Amino acid sequence: MAEEAILGYLEKNEQISDSGNFAAERGFDHNDVVNVIKSLHGFRYIDAQDIKRETWVLTGEGKKYAAEGSPEVQLFLAVPAEGSISKDELQKKLDPAVFKIGCSQAGKNKWVEMGKQVSRKVQNVEDKVKDLLLQVQNGHALSKEEISSLKARKLIVPQTWKGYSVRKGPNYAPKRKKAATDLTRENLQKGDWKELEFKEYNFNAKGQPAEGGHLHPLLKVRKQLKDIFLQMGFEEMPTNNFVESSFWNFDALFQPQQHPARDSHDTFFLEEPSTTRELPEDYVERVKRVHESGGYGSRGYGYEWKREEANKNLLRTHTTAVSSRMLKALAEKPFAPKKYFSIDRVFRNEAVDRTHLAEFHQIEGLVCDRGLTLGDLIGVLHDFFSRLGMSKLRFKPAYNPYTEPSMEIFSYHEGFGKWVEVGNSGMFRPEMLLPMGLPEDVHVIAWGLSLER
Ligand code: PHE
Repeated sequence: MAEEAILGYLEKNEQISDSGNFAAERGFDHNDVVNVIKSLHGFRYIDAQDIKRETWVLTGEGKKYAAEGSPEVQLFLAVPAEGSISKDELQKKLDPAVFKIGCSQAGKNKWVEMGKQVSRKVQNVEDKVKDLLLQVQNGHALSKEEISSLKARKLIVPQTWKGYSVRKGPNYAPKRKKAATDLTRENLQKGDWKELEFKEYNFNAKGQPAEGGHLHPLLKVRKQLKDIFLQMGFEEMPTNNFVESSFWNFDALFQPQQHPARDSHDTFFLEEPSTTRELPEDYVERVKRVHESGGYGSRGYGYEWKREEANKNLLRTHTTAVSSRMLKALAEKPFAPKKYFSIDRVFRNEAVDRTHLAEFHQIEGLVCDRGLTLGDLIGVLHDFFSRLGMSKLRFKPAYNPYTEPSMEIFSYHEGFGKWVEVGNSGMFRPEMLLPMGLPEDVHVIAWGLSLER
């Protein structure tokens, strides 16, 4: 309503010089008019200039007299037109404050004779104070003297009035267009996007905080395990190669070439590229020799080792392939003890069922130092598994081509009420470590388990 009035008025007139008068003339509440002005000004439909005026408003006392008459007039009217009234009688007829103020003002005005008896001195009086108060209430201007007399009696107080003078702005239109916030399919179909005014984007607006999302349960456990290894002082091995040569996955680990795990029924071999590009030749030679005829106190397997078999590329079947590369790298430098771990994917060509996929995450830990024993392995395993909440462990002799002795790890499952296999472990064989060039007294204890199986 006020908006239409303002825009409509400006269509035919230069300006609205005073929003207060504009509101009063049309019976609008000035606050409503001000809100519309602010909004139109924001969209530059109009230009608005502040105007301020000192005005006067009635105090509580002032309002009372404006309604009931001034105390002096109330007192005058309480005095009989003829004869007199005793002061006590008069006091009883009036409010104490009205009586007190009325006496002094009516006395000053010489309207009444004040003594033990009170009587009128004039026939009629005018209530000038009430009239002035009503004028202030209605927004009329008073003379300086009138203002100061009311102010002295604390019947009015000053108030700053704020309003606006208003002219057309750069975006003026007789009717406000609602700015479109989105370009819709309908806009495009109808073609009305050509006429639409679009609301500008607020690039500073904050988006809704994203509160959803969480780690996948598997990644949660992975993080938990990684933290355990780090707390135990282990370094992570670089396991970012899923493709590995048979050499590092099997041969370097003293796994014979006829071993069933090296069959395509158990392992995914690559078709393209089917073979590895290079291997460390002198080390390959030592590995070939230890497979064929042994050495380092071993008799070897006594078969003809084939290079073609070692060259074959595959998807690594265990992260122990990475461990073998890391240990070979360690052997090339002056010896320093190490604790390594990895958690990454391995691939096995197995029947897929409810609990087995053709790939899973393997967790592997190894400690490499002089003079380590099976007791050290058992101790580290107790430490590691108890951090996972498994403190009841049992070990069972097992076989791995690359470890001797080897132990399967069992943990007592309180919920199932039985022993559950949780991992595999062992001490790497001299047939694996010595061809790498590690010192003879350096032993490596290691274990592996699955993250999801
Ligand atoms: N590579 C073994 C497996 O795949 C795990 C293992 C790692 C065993 C290190 C002994 C030592 O189960």
